[in-house]
Amino acid sequence: MVTLHEGNTPLIPAPRLAEATDPSLRIFLKCEGFNPTGSFKDRGMTVAISKAVEAGSRAVICASTGNTSASAAAYAARAGIRAFVMVPKGAVAIGKLSQAAIHGATVLVVDGTFDQALSIVTQIAERHPVTLVNSLNPFRLEGQKTGAFEVVDQLGRAPDYHLIPVGNAGNISAYWRGYREYHRAGIAKELPKMVGFQAAGAAPIVEDRVILEPKTLATAIRIGNPASWGLAKEALQDSQGWIDAVTDEEIVRGYRLLAREEGIFMEPASCATVAGLAKMVKAGRFEPGSTLVLTLTGHGLKDPDTALESATRPVSVPARLDAVLAQLGL
Ligand code: F0G
Repeated sequence: MVTLHEGNTPLIPAPRLAEATDPSLRIFLKCEGFNPTGSFKDRGMTVAISKAVEAGSRAVICASTGNTSASAAAYAARAGIRAFVMVPKGAVAIGKLSQAAIHGATVLVVDGTFDQALSIVTQIAERHPVTLVNSLNPFRLEGQKTGAFEVVDQLGRAPDYHLIPVGNAGNISAYWRGYREYHRAGIAKELPKMVGFQAAGAAPIVEDRVILEPKTLATAIRIGNPASWGLAKEALQDSQGWIDAVTDEEIVRGYRLLAREEGIFMEPASCATVAGLAKMVKAGRFEPGSTLVLTLTGHGLKDPDTALESATRPVSVPARLDAVLAQLGL
């Protein structure tokens, strides 16, 4: 097994988010940004890379909005095999790019979208001796479903609603599979409603059409033609859940709220769930007193540029006590 001891991430209560939205709700945050490479991708990558090595593969390939490439690069390094990653130009947060680079992956920046890159790497993996580690690789979702197992283990039950950001739509499908398996095994008595959120400029499932030029500041979910579209629709239907879109403005509001009120710094795509929480509470979509779990998919340090742009700027001061006191207003 090729592992970096991923998983076992904390499920943290979020009373301030409840206060800011609906105090009757019990809200918990599944903090997937605390995985070894800073995102939930590690749960799937440990399985995908272990199985690739088992099958004798010497190289892996993926397209990515950043986190998959960071995870693939790290686990390939751990396994002693090569990683080729393709990312869309100008649309990947700097932390993620630096991870792929330092782990020794071959990084190709493509002048196009994630969806175009995914189509290219899929064709390469069909014809050449490299293993595809995007979520089209079935072992990825098998690993990622453990997120749902852990939520039930930590909460002692399944939540009433599970809120999750949707990009390529693998993770919502994986969580639903995990919940169903635990339910079938009798470990969870209940099943949650799955509630997905896409960014308004990149909402193909919400709008039920391919988006050729997706746009959002939440670059992780800037995807116009999700690979697991069908599986995600099944998850939404079977769980009696739903999917909605949140604007970049709402995402940034959620991003700041989470960081400032709960002390948890997650990247913008993760905060589509916080934005969605606020929007759905306003729309009266949650039964009062319900238990909600939000998956926070990636760490805030992945994208320091957006953090600095979204917050009060640091202030420069001369190295003098009086000047510092004047600035602090003390
Ligand atoms: N949140 C983050 C931080 C992500 O990196 C992704 C996907 C998602 C949410 C959406 O998850 O694709 O399973 O629906 N990132 C992929 C990548 C596409 O290449 O890193 P999904």
